Amino acid sequence: MLDANHNLFNIRADDVLIDLLTDSGTSALSARQWAGIMEGDEAYAGSKSFYRFEQTVREITGLGHVIPTHQGRAAEKILFTIAGGEGKIVPNNTHFDTTRANIEMSGAEAVDLPVPEGVLPSSEGDFKGNIDLEALENLFRQKDQQNIPLGMLTVTNNANGGQPVSMENIRKMSELCHAHGIPLFLDACRFAENAYFIKLREPGYGDRSTREIAQEMFSYVDGCTMSAKKDGLVNIGGFLAVNDDDLAQKARNILVVTEGFPTYGGLAGHDLEAIAQGLEEVLEESYLKYRIRSVAYVGEKLSQLGVPIFRPPGGNAIYLDAKAFLHHIPPREYPGHALACELYLHGGIRSCEIGSVMFGKTDPLSGAFQPAKLELVRLAIPRRVYTQSHMDYVVECVGEVFDKRDTLKGMRIVSEPPVLRHFTARFEPL
Ligand code: F0G
Repeated sequence: MLDANHNLFNIRADDVLIDLLTDSGTSALSARQWAGIMEGDEAYAGSKSFYRFEQTVREITGLGHVIPTHQGRAAEKILFTIAGGEGKIVPNNTHFDTTRANIEMSGAEAVDLPVPEGVLPSSEGDFKGNIDLEALENLFRQKDQQNIPLGMLTVTNNANGGQPVSMENIRKMSELCHAHGIPLFLDACRFAENAYFIKLREPGYGDRSTREIAQEMFSYVDGCTMSAKKDGLVNIGGFLAVNDDDLAQKARNILVVTEGFPTYGGLAGHDLEAIAQGLEEVLEESYLKYRIRSVAYVGEKLSQLGVPIFRPPGGNAIYLDAKAFLHHIPPREYPGHALACELYLHGGIRSCEIGSVMFGKTDPLSGAFQPAKLELVRLAIPRRVYTQSHMDYVVECVGEVFDKRDTLKGMRIVSEPPVLRHFTARFEPL
């Protein structure tokens, strides 16, 4: 830990027993994905693999222009290079770190508008990932619409406990945005998990297939950014998909300079095959049932031990509520980071802080500290990788750390980069 400057991103994966750092790019590929990889067409322009990928994305999203990128943040970078800029505001239920960073790097402002219960870890609720429509309407009233290039919804809401967004919320946000002439985009990383929650929880959707539900979700939007490293079930890849011809043209112009020719983006032909196949498999209901149920299993076991978690269990992860877990450590001493480090030292489990290290701010001049809304530690579950026994071990370790929680101490940041500080900051225990 000393060599790693107490930053879990600096630990070698070989030195990790159970790696719950992220559910991004960590899926196990299926036999059919590997078979697709063997068949990948590596033609520079117009490869067969691109057309299969394009067709699959069009079928699910209904969006006309499909622009492959090497991962989600590349799609964000292209979108906000075009739509962002000084004076612009982009609302979202909750922006994830890279989305926020890409918006802010363009000079625009990223605004989070989660529903009030969405930031209360202990409250129950079916759709705690929803955007606060009243707050959104107020924003639209107060600001010049020219300055709101688009609205966004992140499904599921990864920075907010991996909580789903309801179909009603997507539809109403779409109506509201369109009434103001503002396009709506989905950050669609975990669209299939969100669709399955809608099937389970929203009246009227129990008998619909997850594919149909996903198609309806996309029917309300004008575009999406996607990291296929999540619900594309692949290790690398993403895309930007839009209906607007002019926007698509501008995006392709940037793509050629920064990623690659429009029929491969930043990817190999075989990556496009793997994504196309992954997007089919991720909507299989037997897969989704197992996925959502196995994450809930970890949450139930931890709740039985009295461990405070963000309720109810999300789609891609269990989020420990570090504020309640370590109530003796104030946000400015980064309780989430202290807990994540201890889980590694105690059980070789790597997790990820989603709290004041990731989203808090320290003014470099005055030293003034602005905490994040939540102090969470995410135990992200890679798709199709770990077994129930691995999860039982995780539950046992978290329980043991919970029993000795009073002995844990806070952390301090020794040095940090100007953006996305959690990846490379150096820490010291207090
Ligand atoms: N949007 C959301 C909601 C995400 O969770 C991520 C990535 C991205 C965009 C960016 O995608 O990594 O392909 O560039 N989240 C990962 C995580 C890193 O661990 O949650 P990317």
